[in-house]
Amino acid sequence: MRLSLRFVLPLLLVLAGIAYAVAPLVDKLTLGWFVRDIEIRATLIASTIQEPLQEQLLAGRKAKTKDFFNRIAENERLYAVGYCADPTGTVLASRSFPAEISCANLYRWEGAANHLLPSALGPLHVSIKPMTSDITATGRLIVVHDMSFVTRRSEETKRYLFYLFMALGAVVSLITVIIAQLSWRGWMAGMRSLLRGEGILRKPEQEEKQQPPSPPGFKPIARDLQRLIHELESETRARDESQVTWTPEALRAILRGELSGEDVIVVSNREPYSHQRRGERIEVQRPASGLVTALEPIMRACSGTWIAHGSGSADHDVVDKNDCVAVPPDKPAYQLRRVWLTAEEEAGYYYGFANEGLWPLCHIAHVRPTFRSSDWAQYVAVNRKFAKAVVSESKTKDPIVLVQDYHLALLPQMIREALPNATIITFWHIPWPNPESFAICPWREEVLAGLLGSSILGFHTQFHCNNFVDTVDRFLEARVDRESFNVSFGGKSTAVRRYPISIAWPPDAEMMQKPVPECRSNIRHVNDLPQEHKIGVGVDRLDYTKGIVERFRAIERLLELNPDWIGRFTFIQIAAPTRSGIDEYQHHEVQVRAMAARINARFGRQGPPPIVLKVEHHEPQEVYEYFRAADLCFVSSLHDGMNLVAKEFVGARDDERGVLILSEFTGAARELPEALIVNPYDSDQCAAALHLALTMSANEQRDRMRLMRGLVAEFNVFRWAGRMLLDAAAMRRRSRLTDKPGTSNL
Ligand code: G6P
Repeated sequence: MRLSLRFVLPLLLVLAGIAYAVAPLVDKLTLGWFVRDIEIRATLIASTIQEPLQEQLLAGRKAKTKDFFNRIAENERLYAVGYCADPTGTVLASRSFPAEISCANLYRWEGAANHLLPSALGPLHVSIKPMTSDITATGRLIVVHDMSFVTRRSEETKRYLFYLFMALGAVVSLITVIIAQLSWRGWMAGMRSLLRGEGILRKPEQEEKQQPPSPPGFKPIARDLQRLIHELESETRARDESQVTWTPEALRAILRGELSGEDVIVVSNREPYSHQRRGERIEVQRPASGLVTALEPIMRACSGTWIAHGSGSADHDVVDKNDCVAVPPDKPAYQLRRVWLTAEEEAGYYYGFANEGLWPLCHIAHVRPTFRSSDWAQYVAVNRKFAKAVVSESKTKDPIVLVQDYHLALLPQMIREALPNATIITFWHIPWPNPESFAICPWREEVLAGLLGSSILGFHTQFHCNNFVDTVDRFLEARVDRESFNVSFGGKSTAVRRYPISIAWPPDAEMMQKPVPECRSNIRHVNDLPQEHKIGVGVDRLDYTKGIVERFRAIERLLELNPDWIGRFTFIQIAAPTRSGIDEYQHHEVQVRAMAARINARFGRQGPPPIVLKVEHHEPQEVYEYFRAADLCFVSSLHDGMNLVAKEFVGARDDERGVLILSEFTGAARELPEALIVNPYDSDQCAAALHLALTMSANEQRDRMRLMRGLVAEFNVFRWAGRMLLDAAAMRRRSRLTDKPGTSNL
């Protein structure tokens, strides 16, 4: 309405102005016509009265002539009539004849076009007509017309013109406003949907019911506009993403902006906190898991619900009636929903199919995978159990579900069946092998189909994305688009993307509380080592993929090649017990312990041992103290998706000291080239790297550490999660456009 008034009022004013500007022109034109008519009339009068007038004049009947003139002047619009015999005479005239007209000036006027005289009534028009006769050749008849009717008509004309223009203005305004309103509404709807990423060509369902379709004429423009907006949007995103300093607050802000009110659920096998019974007490434990290390700060930042296997001995005792407990225990930020597994389920699903089958299958670490149909059955059943938990925890029909890792490969498809509109982001934390290796799995098609229930499937490296896409191409009837890295299977599409995982930045202040000199001194003290002793650390789960045996071999080689280090260097290996129900892990532990003992026996008899092996759980704070105390950290994984220990060591060294030795077979090696990159199978090379690290100048340590810290700071875990969630948000907007909620449109 306001818009209409803003448009109509000025238009009417302009038209009124035009009406007033045009009126004098019309006046001038009509006056010309009237004068012409009056002249014709005067000529007619002159010729009509010529004869009787001559007779009167010849007869010298002046009084009669005046009467005659009076009678004529009674005619409509005639004001007066007069006669001049010559310029020197007086006017013989009717009653109302204007005094200003004398015979003398009359003859001077002759030849001029119009003679208008003002009067009290209005303008008078004077016509002078020759009236030659036998008496005089210079006689003139003067016919004076009352022109006030012209003024009246002019006023009327102006009024009519004004009304006409006003009516015209009103009609034009009305038509324009109607057209503008229709177009504006169409454009606004289009723009709104475009800005929501829905496009003008197709409206979201509910709007479609209420609004007419976009005018067909707008479609090409809409398409261009849509493309432009998408380009701008992605440009802005790219720019924004690189400009954002990724912190928990930035992640929270982006989530509020992009996914406000969305239901975020994380599902993993391992829980972020477990409650353990220690006699009468209940202790809270943080597990040694890269997955937990990465996801925990994300959940703290964005709340939501984390569904995981309740594996702690006191887990049952602390949950509410819905099997939930708020965590972190000291400062609750999100809900942990525990899923309970029977011993058989855990044996088949976790120890069996996941850790004896998929784990060695995906890590090329020369341990044969074992696949049993009984394990597979439990794997399917437990995945279904998790799917039910997801459905019961989702508050909406279209939650965002973040499925974690190889324990839950079937979950995406199961969630998709139950909640078709869910956006499912699956992250595979371990490597994906090549198709030949993956072919070993007897249920390869089922595992692939399960994963392809995801909207987005993430890996740490492009290499693993490629391997996955190759595997799908080999074993499934799926359409693989290698340009966009989208896989279409069973009418749904999955975007396969690289999202390198990382750690929280800056690292938790609690972990960094103790100054580096204090850490150095403490750690040497508790391990009975001299204060100037060189220390290397390794922090891993006691897993055969971590290359601990190869690491010890490298230490042995160092001492063989550089005996100077004997008694001056100790490597402290923190090895968290893990999956100890599996034979391979038990053998591995035996092997690692024996090797440490052998090397210590060989080189440590007279002084501090070359290796201190600590097979026990360490809380993150203790681990950070070791990182800060060490001269070097050795990560020698035989194959690792990322390896967050490498990034944690870098994060812990705010003193910019310490050297990282890193296996080339970790995802981290692609991001941290300033580390000393080694092949863990090459013990000579690793020994040389150890020597180099132990002798590296403080300046070189600082330069390398600074670069690595810069990278980890920038590409931290908030960015990892932020990028996935932003992609999910964009996908949700676009899937509304194509009417295929939850499936990939990236
Ligand atoms: C790897 C896996 C995680 C797992 C972690 C610890 O990092 O990718 O999913 O949680 O190892 O293993 P665990 O078997 O103790 O959970």
